[in-house]
Amino acid sequence: MAEPQTAPAAHADHANLALRGDNLVKRFGAVTALDGVSLTLGQGEILGILGDNGAGKSTLVKILTGFHQQTSGTLHVHGAETLLKSVDHARSLGIECVYQDLALANSLSIYHNMFLNREIVRRGPFRLVDHKQMRERAAQCLEDIGVHVPSVDLPVERLSGGQRQAIAVARAVHSNAKILLLDEPLAAMGAREAALIIDLVMRLKEKGGLSIIMIMHNYAQTLDIADRIMLMQRGRVTYEQKSANTSVAELMDIVRREYRAMRATTAQ
Ligand SMILES: Nc1ncnc2c1ncn2[C@@H]1O[C@H](COP(=O)(O)OP(=O)(O)O)[C@@H](O)[C@H]1O
Ligand SMILES: [Mg+2]
Repeated sequence: MAEPQTAPAAHADHANLALRGDNLVKRFGAVTALDGVSLTLGQGEILGILGDNGAGKSTLVKILTGFHQQTSGTLHVHGAETLLKSVDHARSLGIECVYQDLALANSLSIYHNMFLNREIVRRGPFRLVDHKQMRERAAQCLEDIGVHVPSVDLPVERLSGGQRQAIAVARAVHSNAKILLLDEPLAAMGAREAALIIDLVMRLKEKGGLSIIMIMHNYAQTLDIADRIMLMQRGRVTYEQKSANTSVAELMDIVRREYRAMRATTAQ
C-alpha cells in the first residue's frame, strides 16, 4: 500500500476549516476506490477536483455527504472530528450535495421542487400545504441568487439542463447549506449553460458563508472558478495547487506523464 498522506499544508489554521479529510480509504470488496485521500476545504473557499473516470471523485463526495462511510481515515467538519452516518446526518451539519443525476421531480413545479420533502404547512388543525408561501419564498430565493425563470409554477421538465441544475443548487442553498458539494455540475452542458452555473457559483461565493467543492471535467473552467484545484488519479491525490499558481498546460502535462507511465507499464 502507498504511504499514508496527511492533510496538505494548504491551510495552516486547521481549526478554521470547513472540512478536513485525512487519509481516507474506501474499499468496495476487492476494489480500492480511495487509497488514502487527504483534503482540506477552507471557509468560503471553492475547491475544484479534477481526474479521470474511475479516479474516485464521486466516492470521495459520497463520503463527504454521508452516503458512504469510509473504510478508514478521519473527517473533521467545522473543526470537529465526525463520522458521517447518513446523508441526513451530513445535512444536519450543513453539508448539501447536488448529484450528477439530479434528484429533481421533473413533473412537479419549480417551487414544489424547491421545497420537496420540506413543504411549508399552515398552522391549524388541517396542516394544509401553504402553496402561496412556498411560491413566494421560492421566487425570492431564486431572485436572491440571480436565477431567472419565467415562473416558479413551471414544471421542472420544461427547463433546460442548466436551469434545472440551477434549481437544484438553489434548493441546496435555500436549505441552509454551509458546505456545498457539486458532482460534475457542468456535465453534458453547452458553453452557455455552463456559464449560467459558473456565474451562479461565483455569486454564491461573493454572498459568502458557503464553502464549495466542485468536481469538474474542464481544466480551464476549473481554474477560472476554483480557488484551489486537486487532481485525483487512481484513488489518490496526485497534485494540489492554488489555481493562481498553475495552468491548463501544467495540469495537462501531469496527466500526460501519468498516461505515458501507465502505457509503458502495460506494454512490458
Ligand atoms: N458502489 C460501488 N461498488 C463497487 N465499486 C464502486 C462503487 N462505487 C464506485 N466504485 C468503483 O470505485 C472506483 C471509483 O469510482 P468513482 O468514485 O465513481 O470515480 P469517478 O467519480 O472519479 O469517476 C471505480 O473503480 C468504481 O468502479
Ligand atoms: Mg463520478
